[in-house]
Amino acid sequence: MNTRIITIDGPAGAGKTTVSRLLSQRLGCVHVDTGALYRGVAFEIRQQKIDWENDAALEEFLKDLDLNFVIEKKALALMSSGRNITNFIRTPDITMLASSSSAKPQVRAALLDIQRNIAKTKDAVFEGRDMGTVVFPDAAYKFFLFADLNVRAARRYDEMPDEKKDIRRVQKQMEMRDYKDSRRKSAPLKLAEDAIKIDSSFLTIEQVVERMIGIIEKP
Ligand code: C5P
Repeated sequence: MNTRIITIDGPAGAGKTTVSRLLSQRLGCVHVDTGALYRGVAFEIRQQKIDWENDAALEEFLKDLDLNFVIEKKALALMSSGRNITNFIRTPDITMLASSSSAKPQVRAALLDIQRNIAKTKDAVFEGRDMGTVVFPDAAYKFFLFADLNVRAARRYDEMPDEKKDIRRVQKQMEMRDYKDSRRKSAPLKLAEDAIKIDSSFLTIEQVVERMIGIIEKP
């Protein structure tokens, strides 16, 4: 691999997306949010009413899956069979379905090449759950970003526009998602042996990014 790949893994709400975006801007490379791919799978499962717990039906569905990223207004947009679905994949329903369906090894295998192909030609910051452990074990720098559950739930709650939002519900769903993501058999969320841990509970996004830049640019 001649490109420079930086990975950021960690639980939901740790600040991965904002940190990855800022870090990639500072380094002048692309930011790839791999959670969007798992959300794209969940979106299509819902749209096409696939019985994804049935292995034969899931495999048939994955054969025709056509997800990829294109650059739109300097950010990556998620395309599914040529349609931009970026704005439809962040609903609570899709979030929970992405968390369940991502545990299927067939789903993970189907997304592996998409992620590795991007890395062949572009320097990038990849964020997700298994970037440093499974997808890019040879990444130049690996970070594991985490924070206290209360802090993460409060951040997510603040971002939500919904009037009917409920912090306890946000926290419960986050806890459930973390549990599923770290206990699944296939590529669970865990710390890569050579990853650098950063606790963002008491740091601003800028402080996290500065810390990463300090490590990456250390002479
Ligand atoms: O990162 P985000 O919260 O958007 O991811 C949605 C879901 O996709 C996660 O809860 C996780 O189950 C799954 N995911 C994954 N592996 C990744 C990225 C996301 O399993 N590399």
